[in-house]
Amino acid sequence: MDSQQDFLRDAMRRLNLTRDAFAERLGVRRRTLDTWLLPEASGEARAMPDMAQKFVSEILFREAEGHDAQKHHRPLAERMSADGRPQLLSVAQFERESLEELFRITDVMQPIARRHKVCRVLEGAVMGSLFFEASTRTRVSFGAAFSRLGGSVCDTTGFTFSSMAKGESIYDTSRVMAGYVDALVIRHPEQGSVAEFARATNIPVINAGDGPGEHPSQAILDMYTIQREFSRLGKLMDGAHIAMVGDLKYGRTVHSLIRLLSLYKGMKFTLISPSSLEMPAYLIELASTNGHVVEVSTSLQDLKGADVVYATRIQKERFAGENIEGYTPEFQVQKSLVDAVCKPDTIIMHPLPRDARAGANDLSTDLNLDPRLAIFRQTDNGIPVRMALFAVLMGVESQIARNLRDVTWRSPAFVGPDDAVFDTLD
Ligand code: NCD
Repeated sequence: MDSQQDFLRDAMRRLNLTRDAFAERLGVRRRTLDTWLLPEASGEARAMPDMAQKFVSEILFREAEGHDAQKHHRPLAERMSADGRPQLLSVAQFERESLEELFRITDVMQPIARRHKVCRVLEGAVMGSLFFEASTRTRVSFGAAFSRLGGSVCDTTGFTFSSMAKGESIYDTSRVMAGYVDALVIRHPEQGSVAEFARATNIPVINAGDGPGEHPSQAILDMYTIQREFSRLGKLMDGAHIAMVGDLKYGRTVHSLIRLLSLYKGMKFTLISPSSLEMPAYLIELASTNGHVVEVSTSLQDLKGADVVYATRIQKERFAGENIEGYTPEFQVQKSLVDAVCKPDTIIMHPLPRDARAGANDLSTDLNLDPRLAIFRQTDNGIPVRMALFAVLMGVESQIARNLRDVTWRSPAFVGPDDAVFDTLD
């Protein structure tokens, strides 16, 4: 952990405690805890006593032991397997406990993702990606994640240049690829297709988006981002109010995300979309169970009170034959709306890409300098999350911590010129 502030925030997140409850657990006043949580540069910041630091580490250690006891020694890869194979096809493979275990492994990856450490546990392994649909971040971040663990990557993009254009079946393509590589990451325009690839091989397969179906790794990195943002803001996941905006019918990221959010307690979901692009009924039903509240709306005014606003792009490529207009300007999430309706600690998310073309009315760029905009923190978190997924599916997660070396090159403290102070790589 890099600083006292990160150490304490991380502890609160792992223990699922608010600032007040954490202060009580430590037996200190809330004001004292606040001074320990201030950035080191602030004049009011205080170093916490060694005793307090030891006490927090001890609580975390006991907590981790508790998790180990609960696991009954079944490895995570087994508990999140698909049909007994180490493959990630749907978020339905997760329970709250296994998701949070994956997040603890993701935390271990942070020093590598933030370019402080180098790790080569996947040296010699080859990952093959098959992308039959457009992608920048998913394809590159899976490749970068595998490479940062020491593996190498063979990329394939586009249907036209693959043998599937000559009529090869999914089964044959998948079996052939399994002979060449040690893990496969696949994006395909048809719902259910990645599961078909997965059935034809025993190597790890990750669904990187199957048409309007699912996009599990995106939803996992979104959940990880929400948890980190909440721990910075002193909020808990249980009872959070999440608003999803836009194309909720075809947007696979929100389909996966609402399922993962439903693993928590007492959630409130506000689903805002043009009426032709509503969230599928089976997902509304699923999200309405276990005491969650779901509100369906066509007005952005209903963002009021939300802790998270998750905007999405209109998935035009998915409804070529249908007559759907897209967003009118009243569906655009922009700064004046956020200032008028949202809270100072609401976070604004989007899976990206943002459609920046005139008339698209996607998430506005006028929020770029607003620290509530978490979109690049989401993309940055994609790396450690995808590293954690590979590590688990390939069985090397316990080797990471003892196989770290310092990096030899220099990186800027901030990768983006407009990054918020807490986006630093340090
Ligand atoms: C999304 C996707 O492909 O589903 N992009 C991504 O992977 N982050 C969202 C989109 O295309 O709108």
